[in-house]
Amino acid sequence: MTQHQTSDITETVLRTLEGCTDARYKQVMSAVIRHAHALVREVDLQPHEWMAAIEFLTRVGHTCDDKRQEFILLSDTLGISMLTVQLEQARRSAKALADNAATTQPTEATVQGPFYWQGAPVLPLGSDIGAGMPGEPAHYSGRVTDTHGRPIENCCLDVWSGDGEGVYDMQMGEDAGMRLRARFHTDPDGRYHFWSVKPTYYPIPDDGPVGDMLKAMGRHPNRPGHIHMMVYRDGFVPLTTHLFPSDSPYLDSDVVFGVRDSLILPYTQHAPGTAPDGRVMERSFHTASYDIRLAPAA
Ligand code: BEZ
Ligand code: FE
Repeated sequence: MTQHQTSDITETVLRTLEGCTDARYKQVMSAVIRHAHALVREVDLQPHEWMAAIEFLTRVGHTCDDKRQEFILLSDTLGISMLTVQLEQARRSAKALADNAATTQPTEATVQGPFYWQGAPVLPLGSDIGAGMPGEPAHYSGRVTDTHGRPIENCCLDVWSGDGEGVYDMQMGEDAGMRLRARFHTDPDGRYHFWSVKPTYYPIPDDGPVGDMLKAMGRHPNRPGHIHMMVYRDGFVPLTTHLFPSDSPYLDSDVVFGVRDSLILPYTQHAPGTAPDGRVMERSFHTASYDIRLAPAA
């Protein structure tokens, strides 16, 4: 067996991929090897430190089940999820501009997070998905258009959020069922409107290895308040995004790096009275208005 020096082990390992026939897989795995070896060299990693890292990753795996995905949480908190979202957004925007001479950019995307639940009820525009839940009522409205400003009719807005205390239905126990989530479809003018609550900041699940990592790094586990939206219609690039109230704490230090300036909006507070849709409110409420633009699909 040929001995290799510490200086050439990286090249030796890379050469083992010469027979790899999947060019993209070869490119990605070669980069993994190069960057991992560079990391070990840069910090002069010691064997017990590498073993601690392996034990940490093992704990991350053991923390995953059908409800909890600790690896995604790890990717989110290290900014890797958001980096892939941003690269995809840049690709998508460049393509929309090149292909269609679009006049505006599509709405910015952000992380999906672990609380999406497929199959939320389809409700009529104007429904209240926050009724009876903790939190201040908020009326959401806006228009979905393409990047030329043309309305997109019958576009699905799949929305979900935590309650006014930052708790998602999935965290409310077995019997809670779906709360604070629904699918709405835009009217012929691309408009949507519905009621929910003003979302508040909350900590991501931090009772596992990722929480321990955050503590060791000296970081807090919080996300600013936000409502999630997945917006899709055939013929357009689906969008996964959030809206963030502009007065929420942690906008400048989201633990998963998901905030984009273009997704921050004022929630205007109103005294009890008649809301924009004619509903008479006996308690104070908020209005939040946001227009969404989708890029055409290739
Ligand atoms: C969330 O938005 O709920 C979320 C996103 C990423 C990680 C954890 C939670
Ligand atoms: Fe969330």
